[in-house]
Amino acid sequence: MTIDWQNYWASRPQSLDGSIEEALAQVGKTRFGKPVPPEQVTLLVEYIAETLRLSPDMAAVDLGCGNGLITHALATRVDHVVGFDYSPALLETARKHFNASNISYRTGDLTQMESQALPRSGIDVAWSIEVIQNLDPTTLPNLLSWLEKVLVPGGRFLASGIPDIDRIRNFYNTEERWQMHVENAREGREQMGHWWSKDDLSDAAETAGLQIEFVTLPEQFYTASYRVDALLSKVSA
Ligand SMILES: C[S@@+](CC[C@H](N)C(=O)[O-])C[C@H]1O[C@@H](n2cnc3c(N)ncnc32)[C@H](O)[C@@H]1O
Repeated sequence: MTIDWQNYWASRPQSLDGSIEEALAQVGKTRFGKPVPPEQVTLLVEYIAETLRLSPDMAAVDLGCGNGLITHALATRVDHVVGFDYSPALLETARKHFNASNISYRTGDLTQMESQALPRSGIDVAWSIEVIQNLDPTTLPNLLSWLEKVLVPGGRFLASGIPDIDRIRNFYNTEERWQMHVENAREGREQMGHWWSKDDLSDAAETAGLQIEFVTLPEQFYTASYRVDALLSKVSA
């Protein structure tokens, strides 16, 4: 039996007091079972804003927005954001605690985006934070093809926090942890989701007609030793 990620994310606790700590734990931003320090959010927001060169006139989408914690922080840097997620529980928290007049949260499966209409004809930027592990080489190309259609020429998509197969041993860093991974993987129950190779990410981008470059996460990030980022661009016409 493989992990049903949709069910996993739908089963996250439904209501929160709105504290950053609870929100971090709800979307799995934990270390040794505890929410990571809130400064990690500040770091992440600054890094994304800089990497995507966000500006106040931009139309943005957040793919796999979860409970909206990061969506809300980044919404102040753009004109508006549409956040998509398939977890009703997380979207409920987003609408209750992390809403703003320039954010709209929508139910959507990232593997079936063709039916989603956007508020205006093109989007300037998209980001996806710690989500791509729930997709794989059979489903990511479809999402990227949709992005290729909706991004404006020169538009950019940052896929942030992708488990990097080349550095998997930094995560499973003891023999005991490694054996647990081997066993889980054999049973199709890898806890992290899909560990990506750069070749598979590049193939998916090429299939969709997007350019790709890999970005090393700042070393202060708690995930920097085992995740990688990919910045995809739609070539200007
Ligand atoms: C680790 S959480 C990250 C949430 C948010 N991006 C953040 O960084 O706080 C992963 C999110 O991806 C969403 N997700 C995973 N696969 C998805 C899919 N196929 N369609 C829509 N949402 C998806 C989950 O529901 C969950 O909210």
